[in-house]
Amino acid sequence: MLHLAHGLTDVPIAHNRVSCRASKPTQRFLAMMGSNSGRARARAHSNIALVKYWGKRDAVLNLPAVGSISVTLDGLYTDTEVIFDAKATIDRVALNGAQTDPTRFSRFLDLVRRRAGIDKRAIVVSDNNFPTGAGLASSASGFAALALAASAAAGLTMNSRELSILARQGSGSAARSILGGLVEMHRGDADNGLDAYAEPILDADTWPLEVVVAITDTGVKSVDSTAGMQSSGTASDFYPAWVEHAERDLAGMRSAIADRDFTAVGELTEYSCLKMHGLMLSTRPGLIYWNAATVAAMHAVRKLRADGLPVYFTIDAGPQVKALCAPGHADAVAAALAKVPGVLETRITALGPAAFRVE
Ligand code: PMV
Repeated sequence: MLHLAHGLTDVPIAHNRVSCRASKPTQRFLAMMGSNSGRARARAHSNIALVKYWGKRDAVLNLPAVGSISVTLDGLYTDTEVIFDAKATIDRVALNGAQTDPTRFSRFLDLVRRRAGIDKRAIVVSDNNFPTGAGLASSASGFAALALAASAAAGLTMNSRELSILARQGSGSAARSILGGLVEMHRGDADNGLDAYAEPILDADTWPLEVVVAITDTGVKSVDSTAGMQSSGTASDFYPAWVEHAERDLAGMRSAIADRDFTAVGELTEYSCLKMHGLMLSTRPGLIYWNAATVAAMHAVRKLRADGLPVYFTIDAGPQVKALCAPGHADAVAAALAKVPGVLETRITALGPAAFRVE
């Protein structure tokens, strides 16, 4: 079991800077790639939604069919370095120390190149401190870090709304990882997507909630969220009701957060999670992201609650269980979840900061 230290909540979020050294494979990759013109490095944290997003109103601009509310997680993050290199002929990407297919990255980098009026290819080096593609929102932290690093490397100065709109085009949940603490993503109505961005609701240190992540499987999920959302949108009878009632859930969550009412936040969190998984299960063919340990951990959270602990679960498009804890209860929750059969590892995390440049 690995317990990560609690976060950087004593560091002013807007000015948060760390210096971090690249891993050995990363250093080798960078040495191999040479030139350092137009270079920037950024860190963005993963997030989990308390009120869930599932479904797109526009696939090309990646516009969500519903808004969402999330918490940014201090303990799970991506560090990304981008170098626009005049000598490079193709984009090259190293993910967690291994060269990887650049297609999805190139599409995203094209947005940045177009905006900056450059056509240099890029070297991207990205490292996650947690399992990739396994329902821990690596695409959220990954595309948020890429948006910030790539725009800076291209010489662009973008505010957090513009960065959130850019990150959204890589992954819907990435729009939220530009911001820290408790965050709301707006669905927006405009066809051009300029009103579909995330905004902070509360800073990380205003309400120091904690999250215990119970990892039950580190494998890559079978149906990625884009494909899953597309089938739910066309092949679930529940989808219209999901979209219709989203605003009511968001309004309830906003007011529960404004009141710092942990019970109301927790109840809505479990409700939105189970409703989203109900939608997934009702899709033809059904999307089943849980395994036996996922279900056992959900029951364990409910048992802890019956025993008096303030804790509620949520689960994304994967088998990991995240337990939202009122301040001061994460150690007890992590100790209990670590004993659940099939839970491989638990991590405790505080709420994390907005994405930031790394010197
Ligand atoms: O951002 P995407 O395309 O990975 O979709 C995320 C969808 C969920 O994680 C299941 C829910 C959410 O709001 O983050």
